[in-house]
Amino acid sequence: MTKLWGGRFTESASAQAEAFGASITFDQKLASVDLKGSLAHAQMLFEQGILAQDEWTQIEQGLKQLETTLTDHSYTLADEDIHMNLERLLTQQIGPVAGKLHTARSRNDQVATDLHLWMEQHVEALTTALRELQSVITEQAEQHIETVMPGYTHLQRAQPISLAHHLLAYFWMFERDVERLTDNQKRIRKSPLGAGALAGTTFPIDRFRSAELLGFESVYPNSLDAVSDRDFVIEYLGIASTVMMHLSRFCEEIIIWASQEFSFIELSDAFSTGSSMMPQKKNPDFAELIRGKTGRVYGNLMGFLTTMKALPLAYNKDMQEDKEGVFDTADTVLQSVQIFTGMIESATFKTEALKKATMQDFSNATELADYLVTKGIPFREAHEIVGKAVLYCVQTGCFLKDLSLETYQTFHPDITEDVYPLLDPVQAVARRTSYGGTGFAAVSKQLELAKQHLAN
Ligand code: ARG
Repeated sequence: MTKLWGGRFTESASAQAEAFGASITFDQKLASVDLKGSLAHAQMLFEQGILAQDEWTQIEQGLKQLETTLTDHSYTLADEDIHMNLERLLTQQIGPVAGKLHTARSRNDQVATDLHLWMEQHVEALTTALRELQSVITEQAEQHIETVMPGYTHLQRAQPISLAHHLLAYFWMFERDVERLTDNQKRIRKSPLGAGALAGTTFPIDRFRSAELLGFESVYPNSLDAVSDRDFVIEYLGIASTVMMHLSRFCEEIIIWASQEFSFIELSDAFSTGSSMMPQKKNPDFAELIRGKTGRVYGNLMGFLTTMKALPLAYNKDMQEDKEGVFDTADTVLQSVQIFTGMIESATFKTEALKKATMQDFSNATELADYLVTKGIPFREAHEIVGKAVLYCVQTGCFLKDLSLETYQTFHPDITEDVYPLLDPVQAVARRTSYGGTGFAAVSKQLELAKQHLAN
């Protein structure tokens, strides 16, 4: 089969090289946006008097019909990529007039346009999925404002907190991800169309018109930059990596919480798996898999950053490597967010076990120290006194609430009966009224704020 660019060639391509260079196996994902880009380009050519009325009509009808007739079997490797495959198919449908579509256009601005359009749709879908996850987080948080649990630093019990407070910490991480995606869209909604191969064109095109027809917000002011910019892709891969990092942290906690040692959470059967050998097992496979998939998403970012490193202007075939990583990342991140949402929505938190855990630890030690401070003792000294009391408990096998007043007074004579209510973990949480703190009232306010963000 002769190539669309075959005029200058006398020998045919090596079959292995042809397959190696072809991108049709993966860039067929761009078919629908490629047709959309072609329609806008052709309409602009017509409006500028570059295409005649009947040429535009034939091309328009041909492109619209192609959209409905395309199947996985429409493509051939010999046509290399989606752009040349579609041009060949259009030619088969409407004849040689199809050849006029590529006037004032190159595959370089065409592929860049396609990628911008495809990413716009994906980023919109990912944003919607993240919003859904945030909404499920607020629903769970709403149920658990007054559920107390141990808060950790270094994975060591630190201070008791509200479960809603812990959950909402993730709400804000995903909120920042949504902000980043929204900002990314500014660079994605920018039109490279009409940049030609690299230098623009001699035809009287209107790049602003084709951009408008495609719903872009702006137009690249430099044709070299337009065809060789993939910053918007790298930026996206970075954001996607951050989303996966957030998911993997949450997954890690769920995996720990679902262990028998913790028993803080029960995952629904729909989001758990069994073991082929051990009948008793209920494994948090999906949390593990999302944690695991984070690796390939980071890999796609590093891979493509490296591909773009030191590329001279303008288009280079290296850049064809942008697609597989982006497609893989897009599928992985979107599915991970959706699966994770279902897992959280259907999970049950074991409120009694969470509360019990706060009764059997020293996470109220800060309360005791703060109490001594209210008695006029400097915090450093109070810290030392409480440290000694904790050591005493560890050595005698009890907790701070179990010490008698007599024993307390050996640590400091100013300790009186009024210390005991403060050692209650529920009190410890309730009293943390500072803005953004874990106090029940502060968390309720935080939840309201989260809901306001969701409503916007
Ligand atoms: N398949 C190519 C890609 O994905 C399209 C652009 C090809 N342009 C070129 N001058 N060879 O990057």
